[in-house]
Amino acid sequence: AAPALIDPFGREISYVRVSVTDRCDMRCVYCMSEDMNFLPKRDLLSLEELDRLCAAFIGRGVRKLRITGGEPLVRRNIMSLFRSLSRHIESGALAELTLTTNGSQLAPHAAALADCGVRRLNISLDSLDPQKFRAITRWGDLKQVLAGLDAAQRAGLAVKINMVALKGVNDGEIVPMLEWAHGRGIDLTLIEVMPLGDISQDRVGQFLPLSLVESQLAERYTLRALDYKTGGPARYVRVAETGGRLGFITPHTHNFCESCNRVRVTCTGTLYMCLGQEDAADLRGPLRSSAADDLLKDAIEDAIARKPKGHDFVIDRSGAKPAVARHMSVTGG
Ligand code: GTP
Ligand code: 5AD
Ligand code: SF4
Repeated sequence: AAPALIDPFGREISYVRVSVTDRCDMRCVYCMSEDMNFLPKRDLLSLEELDRLCAAFIGRGVRKLRITGGEPLVRRNIMSLFRSLSRHIESGALAELTLTTNGSQLAPHAAALADCGVRRLNISLDSLDPQKFRAITRWGDLKQVLAGLDAAQRAGLAVKINMVALKGVNDGEIVPMLEWAHGRGIDLTLIEVMPLGDISQDRVGQFLPLSLVESQLAERYTLRALDYKTGGPARYVRVAETGGRLGFITPHTHNFCESCNRVRVTCTGTLYMCLGQEDAADLRGPLRSSAADDLLKDAIEDAIARKPKGHDFVIDRSGAKPAVARHMSVTGG
């Protein structure tokens, strides 16, 4: 086997997040502005090219692959990519094939995803209140998401809910969400909002430090530190009263860059070495210029050799620095 991908800080890159579209059927207020300019479809990598790209990373020791968007399930024919990628699960080359979805199109796809070797998936859900849900997503339909979630559980998929904590918006719903999720055997991960792209809203006003939320929850529940690891950035506790797992993704209040194991690729084949930095490498050129993967693998290696130490997101009383101009939806987080 080829040697593992190791970055300049000695971190092994074993997790790749691949965005298959920048489009989404919702417009979450912290993620997108209301009027977004999406990429012309002709600029996208084809599903065959995405498949080759994934195989190249897997050939370089990547063990965890997450399909993201935008909303991955709005990409036409996306199931054919999952079907093809499932061969890496069958061969054992890949330990995990998964996706992050808003759930809106999940109901019709859940069983097929399970067939393709997906074992768990993450659903973004910031509120259980239909009106609030609509206000956050601008035009999402909560019922559809809940139907998707049900279908996923029926298909035997483990579900994790991602909830971006927004001050004055859904902070009152953290406890109800936790009780609801844990009651259904679902893990919940809370996320600190990150300053990516212009969203025509004030990020400082939205920002809720999870260190504060955690100490408030600790007054109400018994939280026991867990060494449960998914390969993602969350730190988990067990909530004794519910028996469920609660994760915290805290780029601001508790930096996790030191243990970073991941990079992300956009739907046009741009590799971003860090979510919070602009530096990127083009993989589409090398992908298209030769049918062999040598150039592609060299480009991947060169890029990993420049992976930055970490992000420099700032959100605090001094303001919010949009660390990077691109929206979260360009790389799917
Ligand atoms: P698990 O496999 O369940 O651990 O998922 P994950 O946390 O790796 O992926 P998910 O798509 O659910 O991402 C949850 C949140 O973590 C999103 O807001 C991502 O933007 C954020 N996130 C994921 N990776 C990174 C990272 O490397 N740096 C930062 N700052 N945030 C990240
Ligand atoms: N900050 C933090 N999380 C975000 N997400 C989207 N935009 C942001 C942001 N600006 C979350 C989504 C999804 C995950 C991939 O990233 O809610 O769960
Ligand atoms: Fe890794 Fe960058 Fe995320 Fe830090 S911000 S965990 S370095 S991708």
